[in-house]
Amino acid sequence: MLLPTVVLGGMWLLRRDLRKPNWVIPTQMAVSPAYRSQTANPVLPKGITMQLPPPGTLARDEHAFHYSNTDADRKRAGRELVNPFPPTHENIERGRLVYEAFCLVCHGISGEGDGPVVPKFPNPPNFHSIESKALSDGEMFHVITLGRNRMAGYASQLQWDDRWQVIHYIRVLREEK
Ligand code: HEC
Repeated sequence: MLLPTVVLGGMWLLRRDLRKPNWVIPTQMAVSPAYRSQTANPVLPKGITMQLPPPGTLARDEHAFHYSNTDADRKRAGRELVNPFPPTHENIERGRLVYEAFCLVCHGISGEGDGPVVPKFPNPPNFHSIESKALSDGEMFHVITLGRNRMAGYASQLQWDDRWQVIHYIRVLREEK
């Protein structure tokens, strides 16, 4: 009997506003001297607070791409990489949007290398040529990702998915699909 009386009586006497946070007696956990993300830091490597990810780590939406921009690595990408997207209507439509926004200016509306900036920008290849048709999806993905000679890489402008989906649209232009 005594314990509930003391507890309830104490609560009534204190009448704490329960919508407010509780009292914190040792405040070290609540108010820690944390460094702000983009400030100097005397404790961490290089004197910066926000550290770079360790080599070899990938962010959640990132994809590993272990190829350099050489002919040998382009061929290897051609052998090793498979288009992860099936040629569905949605993927081809997405590819068309990407193509029309990013590639058409040079490669032309039907992929013949006759876009509006040609010949000021010299001679993009004709996607309907025998050499171009011989490229596998992986090789094309390598060109689109890292670039080749006069064509710049599109990794910084196009997401991984878009770079695969646009390949389906190139194949549609060639009437391979
Ligand atoms: C500024 C002009 C330009 C733009 C924009 C451009 N390309 Fe290219 N592309 C080229 C040129 C030039 C080459 C030939 C590069 C070389 O000489 O190796 C090429 C080559 C290629 C190849 C290799 C084809 C082959 O037959 O060898 C592919 C695939 C390709 N481009 C896809 C794309 C895609 C997809 C886009 C859009 C995301 C794009 N390109 C945007 C100019 C461009």
